[in-house]
Amino acid sequence: MTLRTIESLGDLSGRRVIVRCDLNVPIADGAVGDDGRIRASLPTLNALIHRGAKVVVISHLGRPDGTRDARYSLKPVAQRLSELLGAPVAVADDTVGSGAEATVAALEDGEVAVLENLRFNPGETSKDAAERRAFAEKLARFGDALVSDGFGVVHRKQASVYELAQVLPSAAGSLIAAETDVLDRLTERPARPYTVVLGGSKVSDKLGVIAHLLPRVDRLLIGGGMLFTFLKAQGHPVGASLLEEDQLDTVRGYLAEAAARGVEIVLPTDVVVAERFAGDAAHGVQAADAIENGPAGASGIGLDIGPETAARFAELVASSTTVFWNGPMGVFEFPAFAHGTKSVAEALTRVSGLGVVGGGDSAAAVRALGFTDEQFGHVSTGGGASLEFLEGKKLPGLEVLGWA
Ligand code: 3PG
Repeated sequence: MTLRTIESLGDLSGRRVIVRCDLNVPIADGAVGDDGRIRASLPTLNALIHRGAKVVVISHLGRPDGTRDARYSLKPVAQRLSELLGAPVAVADDTVGSGAEATVAALEDGEVAVLENLRFNPGETSKDAAERRAFAEKLARFGDALVSDGFGVVHRKQASVYELAQVLPSAAGSLIAAETDVLDRLTERPARPYTVVLGGSKVSDKLGVIAHLLPRVDRLLIGGGMLFTFLKAQGHPVGASLLEEDQLDTVRGYLAEAAARGVEIVLPTDVVVAERFAGDAAHGVQAADAIENGPAGASGIGLDIGPETAARFAELVASSTTVFWNGPMGVFEFPAFAHGTKSVAEALTRVSGLGVVGGGDSAAAVRALGFTDEQFGHVSTGGGASLEFLEGKKLPGLEVLGWA
C-alpha cells in the first residue's frame, strides 16, 4: 500500500486543515538556529494556503515532558515561519484550550495559525493509548482533516502522529511523500555502486542500520567517533579516543559478515589526533593503526579522519551512483576538525545519481559548513526516523497513513 495523498481529502477550500509538522529546530536566545525543518515544511503549507484552506499547524519542540515550559514555546518558530511564508502567522498560547479555540476561530481562508507545543500536554507522549486517543480527540476539534507532514517524528507513536490520523480523515503531506520515496529507493532499489557513509559518535546508535544495509550496499565507509571501535576491533590501539568496549564483538561480527558478502568496509588509514577535546588543542596526523599519544605525549584523542582518508572517502563517494551519509566524520563544530566532514559533504554534491544527507546532525553539519540543501540530491529532515526507516522498522506515523 502507498501513502494516502492530499488529493484523497477532496476539496479543502474553506476547510480547517491541521498540519502535523516537525518544527523541532534548535532555539538559542529566543531565536531559531538552523531553520531547515521549517523550510522543508513550506511546500505542503503553501499548497494548502493556495487551495484556500484554514491551516492549523501543530508541532512539538524539544522534550518538555508534558508540562508548559517557556523555553520550549513555538513562538520563535511561528515568527520564522511567518518570515519564510511572507505572511502573518497567528500563534495560540495553548494547544487545545481557549487560546487555540479563539485563534482557530479567527482564521480566514488561506491563513495560517500555529498552536502551542504539543508536548506541553501529557497526552501527546503518554504510553497509555487511551490517554493519547483522548488528547487526539481534543486536537481533532480544531480541524476537518489532518495532513501529516512531520517526517522527523514518524517513528514515534504519539497522539498527533498516530491517533490523530485515525480520528480525522488524514493523508501524507509532500515532505513525508518525498522522504519515503528517497529512503525507499535507498533500501529497495539503489542504483549501483551504492556507498553508505556512517559517522557520529556511537556505533551503538547505528547497529540496526549497519545490520540492515550490509546485504544491500557495495561499500560502507566508517568515520566519526565510531571509527575507533572498528579500529580497536581490528586490534589497533586508539589512545584516549572514544571507544565502546561493549560493541567490539558486534563490530567484529560486521567485519566478518562484510568479508563474507564481498562488501567493502572502508576504515580510515589516518586520523587527526589531538591533545584534548578542545577546538584549540594541539593536534597532528597519525596512522590509524598506531594511534598512541597526542603531540605533547599525553594519550591522544582522535577528533577527525586524516587528510589521506578524507581524500579517499571523497573519491569513493563522488564515484558512486547512490550514497547515503549519516553522521559527521569528526568534531566539525571545531574548524580544526571539520576537514573530513567537509570533504565528504563536498564529494556528495558531485554524486551523479542520488546523494542523500540523512539525519538531524548531518543536515545541520552541512549547513553549518556553508553548503545549501539544493547542492544535494536530498537532505533528510529525519534523524532517528530516517535511521529507523533504513533499519527496516515499521514506523507508526507512516503505517497509519497507508504505508506498508
Ligand atoms: C527529532 O529531532 O529527531 C524529532 O523531532 C523527534 O524528536 P524526539 O526524539 O524528541 O521524539
